[in-house]
Amino acid sequence: MARAQLLFPKDFLWGTATAAYQVEGNNRNSDWWAWEQGDGRILHNQKSGLASNWWANAEQDLDIAAEMGNNAHRLSLEWSRIEPEPSVFDAAALGRYREILQGMHQRGIEPMVTLHHFSNPLWLVEKGDFNSAVVVDYFRRYTAKVVDVLGDLIPKWITINEPMVYIFMRYLNGAFPVGQHRGWTGALGAIPNLLRCHAAAYHTIKERRPEALVGVAKNMAVLQARPGSTALSRWWAGRVSWLFNHMWLDSLANGRLYLPVGRRTIPHLAGSYDFIGLNYYTRFYVNFPPRGGLLSDRWEPDAVVSDGNYGEIYPAGLFQIIESLLPYKKPIYITENGVPDKDDRLRPSFLMTHLREIWRALSFCYPVMGYYHWSLVDNFEWDRGWTQRFGLIELNPETQERTWRESGRLYQEICRSRSLTSRQAEKYAPELLQTIFRGEAPVDVSP
Ligand code: BGC
Repeated sequence: MARAQLLFPKDFLWGTATAAYQVEGNNRNSDWWAWEQGDGRILHNQKSGLASNWWANAEQDLDIAAEMGNNAHRLSLEWSRIEPEPSVFDAAALGRYREILQGMHQRGIEPMVTLHHFSNPLWLVEKGDFNSAVVVDYFRRYTAKVVDVLGDLIPKWITINEPMVYIFMRYLNGAFPVGQHRGWTGALGAIPNLLRCHAAAYHTIKERRPEALVGVAKNMAVLQARPGSTALSRWWAGRVSWLFNHMWLDSLANGRLYLPVGRRTIPHLAGSYDFIGLNYYTRFYVNFPPRGGLLSDRWEPDAVVSDGNYGEIYPAGLFQIIESLLPYKKPIYITENGVPDKDDRLRPSFLMTHLREIWRALSFCYPVMGYYHWSLVDNFEWDRGWTQRFGLIELNPETQERTWRESGRLYQEICRSRSLTSRQAEKYAPELLQTIFRGEAPVDVSP
């Protein structure tokens, strides 16, 4: 049988992604820690506890990442560790981050660092967090401290992870820690301050480290009307898609706040991003009138759906979304992409089919520069606790024992060969021999 190999560029980044609160453990000064203690907030009242024990021993997973052939990793910093009280910076915590970042460089892994990934210092929440204008100065000072102490080790930065998801989960559906403000008023009040925080962090980093690349990690989903829907539903899906997927990026591109009320220019925002980080997971159908939530009508009966009804597996959507980002004319990094799949029955094929969409995008010369799979190791999945497992490496949170999933081995072969091959499909996802490696195999490398 002819062998096929889909090759990726030599300088393509092969990474995985994690977030501080989800892997470090014992983040006791964070609003998430306080939130977890309340009854019924986390599925089955599970607790993050030691999480994946990174604060004590990130190095064991860095060893695994290196063995996996990763040359990049996206991680985040826990603000509440670095600044446990307002204006009090913890030198030991910064020292530990330095050690972890150095550990990455020593293993040939380039760090991409996120400054805010869903969790806040408790003291900031007491001050009204993103509903209070004071947050901007605090975020600027936190960023400045981090750049001064760790900046020499960080070539790539993300200011804020998934701002629209954060707004939705925190203010509108209440699955994330709820502070003093909630509902639409809280959400509409937070959006301009989040944008100001982004702009402040961007310029703070660039002033100190002009060579650093700074972007945002934007969750984007395919949001479309079900085929055969009414014109109204199609129009509505377009609005919802713009709001969730593009409003934030349009604000960064043009420096404008696009809200139904209070449209205005935000100083220093226009053009404040060097790349787009795309977090892609799934597709939702949108209907008008909405049936049971904004994103109703989730999937077709024959759709492949991952654990805990997390979402439909829809690889073609990754290509579509990459195309929708071309007008911004910025490099694109896939800063998250993954699937909750404890038994690893879907992940091998998920990996190959999504990477194949990236390969397709590259073949059109679209500027996709790297891929960070979510996630390296099972970690604490927010309100869903330990019930959803995204790791290429399986973790037993009680014993902290790690086991390679087959998909981890597959990703290792992909990273090391910088390619997708029909041999990998044969070994890990034979069904793909009938789809992506059937007939149209683009490169024949058989002897
Ligand atoms: C978040 C991660 C989360 C992942 C899987 C993303 O929206 O950035 O923190 O674990 O999705 O749900």
